[in-house]
Amino acid sequence: RSHKRVVDCRSDIDRMNAPLLAIYESLVPKEEEKSNQKQLLTSLEKLVNKEWPTAQLYLYGSCANSFGVSKSDIDVCLALEDPDINKSEVLLKLADILQADNLENVQALTRARVPIVKLMDPVTGISCDICINNVLAVVNTKLLHDYAQIDDRLRQLAFIVKHWAKLRGVNVTYQGTLSSYAYVLMCIHFLQQRKPAILPCLQGMEATYVVTVDDIECAYFDQVQHLRDFGARNKERIAELVWAFFDYWAYRHDYANSVISVRTGSLISKRAKDWTRRIGNDRHLICIEDPFEISHDLGRVVDKYSIKTLREEFERAANIMHYDPDPCVTLFEPY
Ligand code: GTP
Ligand code: MG
Repeated sequence: RSHKRVVDCRSDIDRMNAPLLAIYESLVPKEEEKSNQKQLLTSLEKLVNKEWPTAQLYLYGSCANSFGVSKSDIDVCLALEDPDINKSEVLLKLADILQADNLENVQALTRARVPIVKLMDPVTGISCDICINNVLAVVNTKLLHDYAQIDDRLRQLAFIVKHWAKLRGVNVTYQGTLSSYAYVLMCIHFLQQRKPAILPCLQGMEATYVVTVDDIECAYFDQVQHLRDFGARNKERIAELVWAFFDYWAYRHDYANSVISVRTGSLISKRAKDWTRRIGNDRHLICIEDPFEISHDLGRVVDKYSIKTLREEFERAANIMHYDPDPCVTLFEPY
C-alpha cells in the first residue's frame, strides 16, 4: 500500500509541475518592461543631477532583486553624500522638480516609516517610489539577487509564493501580514534547509563582498557564478518544493521557539535573540531575522489576529497541494 501511495504521489507531482512552471513563466517580466524601467531611471538621474550633481540613483526591491513580477512598481533610492540633509526638505524639493517635469501623481510622503516620493511616468506607465539614503535596502537587494543566480528553483518558488500571497491577501504589511521581502527570505531559508541543500549560506562563507552601512558590516560570498551547480544533487522539482514549503509553514515550523535565519543558514532559538516576549509593538509571533539588521524581525508586523489568518492560509495551501485534484486553480483563488 505504501508503495502505491508513493507512486500516486509521484504522478501528482508530475501533473502539477508543468502548470506551476507555466504560472511562473507568465509572471516573469518581458525584456521591454526591463528596458522601460532603465529608461525611466536614466531620465530621473538627469533631473536629480541638475539639483544634486553628485547624487546617485539605485534601483532596489523587486525590480533589482530578480523577484519582480511583470507590471510591478519600481523602488529607487536617492543616495546623497551629505549625511546631515533634512530628508523631508529633500523629498519636498524632489517632488517639485518631478512635478515640473510632467511626471504624474507626484506625492511626497514625508511622515511614512520610510519617507518617499511617489510618481507615475505617463510615457511608460511605470509607478515609482523614491526614498533617500536607504543603502541597507540596496545591499539586501544585492544579496537576494545573488541567491537567485545560484539555483533557478528559488526564483520559481518565490514567484509562486508571492503570487499566492498577493491573491490570498496575505502580502499587506499594514494589515499585519508579511512583506514580499519577508516571503523571499522564507523561500531562501527553506531551500537552505532541504536535504541535500539547494542553496548555500552565503554569509557563512568566505566574504568576497564587504560594505559597512549605518555601522552594520554586510559581508558575504558574492562570487555566485561558481555556485551554479550547488543544488544539483537535490532533484526536487517545483511542485514538490511548493508543497513542502506550505507544509513546513502549516505543520512543521515551531512558531513558539524558532527564528528563521538566512544569515546563519539555520533555525535559531527565540531565547538566544531575546525575542520571547512582546516589547513595544514587536510581538515576535512569526520570527524572520533580517540578514543584516539582525535585531530586526520581519515578522514584527504580525499581530495576534493576523497570525491566525496567516497560519490558516498556510494550512489551506498545504491541504490544497495535498488533496486537490487541480491545485493550481484553487491555490490562487482570490480570497
Ligand atoms: P514587490 O514590490 O511586492 O514585488 O516586492 P519588493 O521586493 O519590492 O518588496 P517590498 O516592497 O517588501 O520591499 C522593497 C525592498 O525594501 C526590499 O527588497 C528590501 O530591500 C527593502 N525592505 C522592505 N522591508 C524591509 C525591512 O523591513 N527591512 C529592511 N532592511 N529592508 C526592507
Ligand atoms: Mg517593491
